[in-house]
Amino acid sequence: MAKTYKIAVIPGDGTGPEVIREGRKVLSALAEKYEFKVDFIEYDLGGERYLKTGETLPDSVLEELKTVDAIYLGAIGHPDVKPGILEQGILLKLRFSLDQYINLRPVKLYPGVWTPLKDKGPDDIDFVVVRENTEGLYCGSGGFLKKGTRDEVAVQESINTRKGVERCIRYAFEFTRKRNKKNTLTLCGKTNVLTYAFDLWERTFHEVGEEYPEIKREYAHVDATCMWMVKNPEWFDVIVTDNMFGDIITDLGAIIQGGMGIAAGGNINPDEGGVSMFEPIGGSAPKYTGKNVINPLAAICAAGMMLEYLGEKEAAESLERSVMRVTAEKLKSLSAGKMGYSTTEVGDLVVKFLE
Ligand code: IPM
Ligand code: MN
Repeated sequence: MAKTYKIAVIPGDGTGPEVIREGRKVLSALAEKYEFKVDFIEYDLGGERYLKTGETLPDSVLEELKTVDAIYLGAIGHPDVKPGILEQGILLKLRFSLDQYINLRPVKLYPGVWTPLKDKGPDDIDFVVVRENTEGLYCGSGGFLKKGTRDEVAVQESINTRKGVERCIRYAFEFTRKRNKKNTLTLCGKTNVLTYAFDLWERTFHEVGEEYPEIKREYAHVDATCMWMVKNPEWFDVIVTDNMFGDIITDLGAIIQGGMGIAAGGNINPDEGGVSMFEPIGGSAPKYTGKNVINPLAAICAAGMMLEYLGEKEAAESLERSVMRVTAEKLKSLSAGKMGYSTTEVGDLVVKFLE
């Protein structure tokens, strides 16, 4: 009997629903070709629901999400909602509550895609960032003292636990081994200034690394990492880093791979019974909402990552090959409104090129 996957879909805000629609289209086409089934269950989480009901992520929804095979998320962020409310109340709450301790972000330049890096092509830009996703500066640890006065103090602490750091680093070594490309894992940190947090990271990196003698270990400070990502991106294979640095360097990564139109990510809980969530990493793009001009490839690539994670490797590879044909042979640009095709047409092209 065909395998059935229960997928929770959170189209979310802005252009989220438009790109998710195309991702679902591609998933359904692949399901037919590769003989599996997908049951989509939609959730209306996001800015609209919050404005109507005051709810971000109700406990009852969270409980339901714990029972699905994966979550497919569009975008969170609404122009009429104060920044932080939806991000913390939905996106970060999901990552934390489901203990999705890995944020996996491939940085890969597809053929035909423009990169702002001069003299660099698809052979040079192909690496993966493993970002810790549940600790660091994102814990919300800290507070104000004498808020609103001239003596105000604001403290925001980075929490790094041995367990949290170790499981992230171990995942990164396993991932590098499985990827089997350059077999090199780079720890991105700031050991020269953050002498407690990254001391723990560095010690853990080398201790765990002993168990992976075939993986070459490299270290780069985060500032230097930014420089190398621009100057010599081909040096990188897999980078492992903390939550905040990972957030920053993956936006740099997104732009060198062609921008938010193509960049996808997975929030992964690799443990037995864990529920993972896949998303395009760009925002809700309110400016382009409802115009059928946004690029759905990032959402489609996120669907590809979801298939890979679910074990549908062939379908995932077929999806990626098709996306590569679309970028190489069809799109004029990856930017919204400049692709030469509408959102819907890009989804149709990906479906057409599926083998
Ligand atoms: C991302 C985003 C989020 C983050 C925001 C929206 C909270 O920038 O997924 O990279 O900082 O993690
Ligand atoms: Mn970010």
